[in-house]
Amino acid sequence: MDKDQILSYIDKAIEAREKAYAKYSNFKVGAIVIDKDDNIYQGVNVENSSYGLSNCAERSAIFSAVSNGMKRIKIICIVGDTSEPISPCGACRQVIKEFSDEETVIILSNLKKEYKVYKIEELLPYSFKL
Ligand code: THU
Repeated sequence: MDKDQILSYIDKAIEAREKAYAKYSNFKVGAIVIDKDDNIYQGVNVENSSYGLSNCAERSAIFSAVSNGMKRIKIICIVGDTSEPISPCGACRQVIKEFSDEETVIILSNLKKEYKVYKIEELLPYSFKL
C-alpha cells in the first residue's frame, strides 16, 4: 500500500472523528474499517455518563461493519489527537483480532498524520482464540 493511499484513509478517519461523542473525556477518536469489496464503515468513540459503558471508535467501526455484512477486515485505520500514532486499547486489539487475518492492515495515526502500519499479530501476540 503506498503512502498516498494510507494518507487518504487517515483523512477519512479524521473526517469520521468529527462525529465522536466524547463529552466526558474530550478525547475524540475516529476509525474506518474497509472490507474486501472496499466498502468503508466509520466509527467513533461513544461515551456515556456511566463511564464504563463507553465504546471505542475502532470497536464502533467494527460493530457497524459486521452489522452491515463485513466478514473480515481488510484495512482498519484509527486516528486520535496523540503525540505519537494512537495505540488501541487491549479490548479493541482483541476485537480487531476476531475479524482479522494475516493480510489485515492496521493503520494507526495522529492528527499530524504521523502513522504506523501493523499486523494484528504484532499488536496482540499469542492472543486468545477458540
Ligand atoms: N478511545 C478510543 O476510542 N480508541 C482508542 O484507541 C483509545 C481510547 C476512547 C475511549 C474513550 O472514549 C476515550 O478515547 C478516552 O479514553
